[in-house]
Amino acid sequence: MSGDGRPVDRAAIERAVEVLAAGGLVAVPTETVYGLAADADSPAAVHAIFAAKGRPNDHPVIVHVLGAQALDAWAGTVTRRARVLAGRFWPGPLTLVLARAARAHDGLTGGQDTVGLRCPAHPWARALLEAWCANRGDPAAALAAPSANSFGRISPTTAAHVRDDLGEKPGGRVDLILDGGACPVGIESTIVDLSRDGPARLLRPGVITRAQLEAVLGEAVVDADATAPRAPGRLAQHYAPRTPLELVAPNALGARVNALRGTRLAVLAPAIALLDWTGDVVLRLIAPAQPEEYARRLYALLHQLDAAGAQRILVAWPPGGVGWEAVRDRLQRAAQ
Ligand code: TXA
Ligand code: MG
Repeated sequence: MSGDGRPVDRAAIERAVEVLAAGGLVAVPTETVYGLAADADSPAAVHAIFAAKGRPNDHPVIVHVLGAQALDAWAGTVTRRARVLAGRFWPGPLTLVLARAARAHDGLTGGQDTVGLRCPAHPWARALLEAWCANRGDPAAALAAPSANSFGRISPTTAAHVRDDLGEKPGGRVDLILDGGACPVGIESTIVDLSRDGPARLLRPGVITRAQLEAVLGEAVVDADATAPRAPGRLAQHYAPRTPLELVAPNALGARVNALRGTRLAVLAPAIALLDWTGDVVLRLIAPAQPEEYARRLYALLHQLDAAGAQRILVAWPPGGVGWEAVRDRLQRAAQ
């Protein structure tokens, strides 16, 4: 994993465990994005997450565990496919949606009969989970954590993003923000639904690609259908900057900028598509050429474009090829 990770601060982890034990909220870096963590076993603490984010109560939240040994504590039925995927991709940016066990209360599942389980790889998230399990005397102790942003806004990939959005108490809404540096993956985990018989269903694309999942399972991974568990990450408008964002074909960018003369623009496009035109552009950013780097920097770029004082953001569509599914998915949701 690359990224500007900081060494784990043991004293900060101990403070974070005290906050969690008291029912408080801790923002913690994971390899994907910063999470807003609370004691998964405490309905009141989980409720506080929803209040801090301004998120509807009936949305499910991901339960973060230290390892696959916790699967049976939280899931009622752990399918063969689930064990295969956890064995191959955990710890890592993959969330498994499974039939819930009784321990997965309604506050975690949004009242559904499924639970989302993820085992993060980031050293700070792992240190926090290890200390949490030790504190509870339970290797299956878990932390509920959605992304640490206000509902519907851009996900945070640095501690500064969390400070600027939710903020730390007393002025803000989070009890403690752990600063582990920038997240090395940069977009949320791949979510796979294995809660029913039949093939795995892709609920949310991520840097673990459909092709990787299919290679490990030896069979097709299908798209989620209308009967799949509800996942708010799939709402059409999500991960959105405040400034309207428009996706444009790279070769149509010059013409679009021209048509928008008189509108202050912030533009994100490949270097080649930024040439040969001028316009009312307050910020131009070069889009990364590789999907992994694009994913890692995506939310920081969106934060930057949103803060530029533009009236409209133009983003060139990334390529359609293999490996770009997750970046294209997030950009599509950011466009209004
Ligand atoms: O990378 C990630 O997954 C990050 C980090 C913090 O782990 N978390 C994250 O959480 O993205 P959040 O709450 O912003 O998105 C979680 C997604 C939501 O779309 C939620 O509905 C879905 O996971 N989810 C959680 N439990 C589910 C369940 N039981 N059934 C269906 N979807 C579920
Ligand atoms: Mg989120």
